[in-house]
Amino acid sequence: MASWITHRVQATTIGNVEGTREQMAAVNELERDFTISAEKLREVAEAIKVEMMKGLEKDNQTVPMVPSFVPGRLTGKETGSFLALDLGGTNLRVCQVNLLGDGKFTLRQEKFTVSEPLRTGPAQKLFDYLAECVDTYLTNYSSEDPQMPHATKLGFTFSFAVNQTAINRGTLLYWTKGFNCSGMDGKDIVGMLQDALLRKNVSVEVVALVNDTVGTLIAQSYREPDTVLGVILGTGTNGAYYEKVSNIKKLSGGNYSPGELMAVNTEWGAFDMERHVLPVTPYDNKLDRKSVNPRSQTYEKMISGMYLGEIVRNAVLHLVDCNLLFEAHSSVDLNRLWSFDSSYMSTIEADATPDLAHTQHVLESILNVPKTTLTDRRIVKKIVELVGTRAARLAAAGLVAVVEHCDALEEGCSVGIDGSLFQHYPSFRERIVAALHELVGDNADRIKLIEAADGSGIGAAMIACLASVKK
Ligand code: GLC
Repeated sequence: MASWITHRVQATTIGNVEGTREQMAAVNELERDFTISAEKLREVAEAIKVEMMKGLEKDNQTVPMVPSFVPGRLTGKETGSFLALDLGGTNLRVCQVNLLGDGKFTLRQEKFTVSEPLRTGPAQKLFDYLAECVDTYLTNYSSEDPQMPHATKLGFTFSFAVNQTAINRGTLLYWTKGFNCSGMDGKDIVGMLQDALLRKNVSVEVVALVNDTVGTLIAQSYREPDTVLGVILGTGTNGAYYEKVSNIKKLSGGNYSPGELMAVNTEWGAFDMERHVLPVTPYDNKLDRKSVNPRSQTYEKMISGMYLGEIVRNAVLHLVDCNLLFEAHSSVDLNRLWSFDSSYMSTIEADATPDLAHTQHVLESILNVPKTTLTDRRIVKKIVELVGTRAARLAAAGLVAVVEHCDALEEGCSVGIDGSLFQHYPSFRERIVAALHELVGDNADRIKLIEAADGSGIGAAMIACLASVKK
């Protein structure tokens, strides 16, 4: 390892990073690997549009384009109390939405965590736990507020790729986001939850199976009628939009009126599993090999919160191995798979202290790297910015693909976005907006990005309402 003095003698600067020539060359190379040009972004958006068309046409396509069987939008006049159970990541939420009939609603929700053994064990254990959470919620709720109406209809937000065959029926296509439970093959997901509730004597009827993006879309259109797209930028990423039923060619049968709309869950996270378009780096490949679902969800793995920290960790370790960071020392924690939580990236991006004290805290106190210099920390910050920026730009390509597919650019539209990345990651929104401008010029101003917090739960309760009325 070159001494500190040698570092100073050969010091070079790129942006606000200053280090040895070797360090700068390595940072330069990372910058090349992770930067996506405007042309590439356009190519990604175009390719997503092509895949969307294929998915609408036939089953078993890369981008599944799952019909939700959710008919249109709510009117705002609906009334009643509905439950939602929202499973999609490490957190599980149970909520009750009271629709008040004047376009307004109230919401009460409770969070539970889903442990790693539950996420990767037998499905029945997971479903028993889900039923237990609903039971706990109802017990807590009725003792807190005995006046509240007792809701009995539940919308189940199951945020994974599903082959949906009715508003309340569907089987798992594949797990994502680190879930890998056994015993789901061919089983109806609603039936599995209903059975688990029965085993616990919880008198709740599961009336709808909902993807989180579809929930977000429905909840956001309730507030903003010009909403065309519901998006999740969180642990995973995905988008749902309204499609003319006549365009969903693979949907045979059904009694639909001409021009009728249906929410479609794109499952865009699966885009480009063939790796023809996305500029995948060695750091992405390393992550992919270690994931529970290798060679799939390529787009999601470059964008979403479950994966970004791991990409950073891979790039950081590469520089450690090349003798260019931390005097070539890693730590047990930094060496551990998935140890670089994406929330550390938020902390590092937001670190405006002159000596990057918060970055130092993450590296030295949380990940136990023995010693870092200011240059080390600046390089790590630069890597984080590169990975975070690439994610936001790729997400923008997805938004544009769907908005253009819907021909909604000229007129303008709202996009409801839920998820921790969008809500909490510094500059994520600004980077999306910058990329939108590169993609569609001034028309970008017509795409309103609206934070749709808790949309998936609220939307599922609203869909439970629609499903109950339809019965
Ligand atoms: C994953 C799931 C998808 C979900 C998304 C966001 O991509 O497959 O169903 O909508 O994560 O939670």
